[in-house]
Amino acid sequence: MSYPRVASLKSSEAFRRHLSESAIEIPFADDVADGPDSPLAQPLQVHGQRIGNRFCILPMEGWDGTKDGKPTELTRRRWQNFGLSGAKLIWGGEAVAVRRDGRANPNQLMINEANLGEIADLRKLLVDTHAEQFESTDDLMVGIQLTHSGRYARPNEKTKPEPRVPQRNRVLDRRVGVTDDSAILSDDELSRLVDDFIVAAVAAERAGFTFVDVKHCHGYLGHELLAAVQRPGKYGGSFDNRTRFLRDVVAGIDAATTNMHIGVRLSVFDFMPYCPGDDRVGIPEPESETTKIFGATPDGTAIDLAEPSQLIKLMQEIGIRMVCTTAGSPYYNPHIQRPAFFPPSDGYQPPEDPLAGVARQIAAVAELKRQHPEMIFIGSGYTYLQDYLPQVAQAVIEQKMADSIGLGRMVLSYPELPADVIAGEDWQRKKVCRTFSDCTTAPRKGIVSGCYPLDPFYKKRPERELLKAAKAKLNS
Ligand SMILES: Cc1cc2nc3c(=O)[nH]c(=O)nc-3n(C[C@H](O)[C@H](O)[C@H](O)COP(=O)(O)O)c2cc1C
Ligand code: SF4
Repeated sequence: MSYPRVASLKSSEAFRRHLSESAIEIPFADDVADGPDSPLAQPLQVHGQRIGNRFCILPMEGWDGTKDGKPTELTRRRWQNFGLSGAKLIWGGEAVAVRRDGRANPNQLMINEANLGEIADLRKLLVDTHAEQFESTDDLMVGIQLTHSGRYARPNEKTKPEPRVPQRNRVLDRRVGVTDDSAILSDDELSRLVDDFIVAAVAAERAGFTFVDVKHCHGYLGHELLAAVQRPGKYGGSFDNRTRFLRDVVAGIDAATTNMHIGVRLSVFDFMPYCPGDDRVGIPEPESETTKIFGATPDGTAIDLAEPSQLIKLMQEIGIRMVCTTAGSPYYNPHIQRPAFFPPSDGYQPPEDPLAGVARQIAAVAELKRQHPEMIFIGSGYTYLQDYLPQVAQAVIEQKMADSIGLGRMVLSYPELPADVIAGEDWQRKKVCRTFSDCTTAPRKGIVSGCYPLDPFYKKRPERELLKAAKAKLNS
C-alpha cells in the first residue's frame, strides 16, 4: 500500500485533498485561533476544579527509572518538559507500577513508601517548571497512572517476560511464553491486587496528585480483564464480573482517601493481534481468538462500542468524570494505537494509511462523547497529524468531538507545542515528530526511550549509537 508522508503534503489544501481522495474523515479548522478566546484555550471544569486549556499530556514512560523504581535525571527531564509544555492537564505522567511483579520493565517507576518522596518531588518539579513559564498553576491538574502490566510484566530482566494473565489466549500466550495455567492470577490474587491499587492511591494523595488513573488499556491487566469472557469466577464472564476489579478499586480508593479523584485510561476499542505478512505489511494473526477482545466486532476486525459505552455509563455511576481514551495495544496492534509512518523495527509495516488510524480514534471518541456528553473525554493518537495537528485539534474541540487533545510522541520532540499554539508563536517545524518510532524501538532493544532523531539532548547521548547498531542488525 502506498500513501504520502504527511510532511510531503505542503499545504492545508493538499492535506485536505489527500483526506478526501482517500475517504478519510478528519475534522479540520482552516484558521487556528490563538489567545485566551481561542477554542483550545478554553478551560474545563471537573471535580469543582478548573483545567486551564484543552491540551493534555498523555502518559509517556521512558524505561529510565532505577532498579528499585525511583525516577532518574532522565525521568525528571521528561516531567519538566511536560510542565513547560503549557498543557493544563497531565494525564498520569507515566505508567507507575503498584507493586513489583506488575512492572513492565525493570526500570519502570514503582509507587511505594520507599519511593514516595522522590515521586512527590517529580510532581513538584513539573508544577514548579510550569510556574516559571506560565501565569498560574491553579488551573494545572496532575494525575498519576497506576498500573499492573499483567501479560506484559517483565519486573526482573528486560529480556524475561513474567506474564500474569486473567485468562489464556492462544496467540498472545505464544508471544509471551505462557504455556500453562500457572500464569493465571487467581481470584484471591486479584483481590489482593485491588488492595495494592488502593494503597498506591493513598500514597499518591500524600504525594500531592489530584487524581489517579486506574489504567485499563494497551493489553495490560486492567484492559485484559475487560475481555476476560472465558474466565470463571467473580472477575470473569459477565460484564458485571469483568468490571468488578475496576468497581472494587474505585470503591476502595473512595473509602481510603479524603479527596482523591479517579480517572481511567481506556482502550475504547481493540482489534485482533497483527503480525507481519509476507511483504512485512501487517495482517491479522491467524488463529487469533476473536471473542476475547474488548470493543471489537465478533470477527475482531472492526469497532463495536456497545460494551465500551456500557462501561462509560458505569464509570459515571461510580463517580468517574474523566476518561483518557486510546485504542488497542502497542504490543499486538500498534497501527491502531500509535499510527506511524515508520513502525518500530520489530513490528510490521502499516496495513493502512496511518491517517486512517488517527481518524478511527477520533471517530470512536466522538461517538462516545455523543452518547455520554457529561463525561470528559481526552483523545489520543494525534501525533501522526504532524503539521496539521493544531487545525484538527481545534476542529475536534469546536465540534465537541472530545474535550481535550492528548499529546504523546509529539511532546517528546516538540514539548512547547501547546504553549506555542495558544500564544500564536511560530510553528517550529523542525521539532515536529515524524513518527520515526525510535522512542518505541529503543526500549524494545533494552535502551532508554527518548526522541533520538529530533531532541538535541538524546541526539548527543551514547545510546543513539547503540540504537543505530540494533536497528542495523534487525534490518540486515
Ligand atoms: C515512548 C512511549 C511511552 C509511552 N508510555 C505510556 C505510558 O506510560 N502509559 C500509557 O498509557 N501510554 C503510554 N504511551 C502511549 C501514549 O500515551 C499515546 O497513547 C500514544 O503514543 C499515541 O499518542 P500520540 O499519537 O500522540 O503519540 C507511550 C507511548 C510512547 C511512544
Ligand atoms: S523518536 Fe521522536 S520523531 Fe520518532 S516517533 Fe518518537 S518522538 Fe517522534
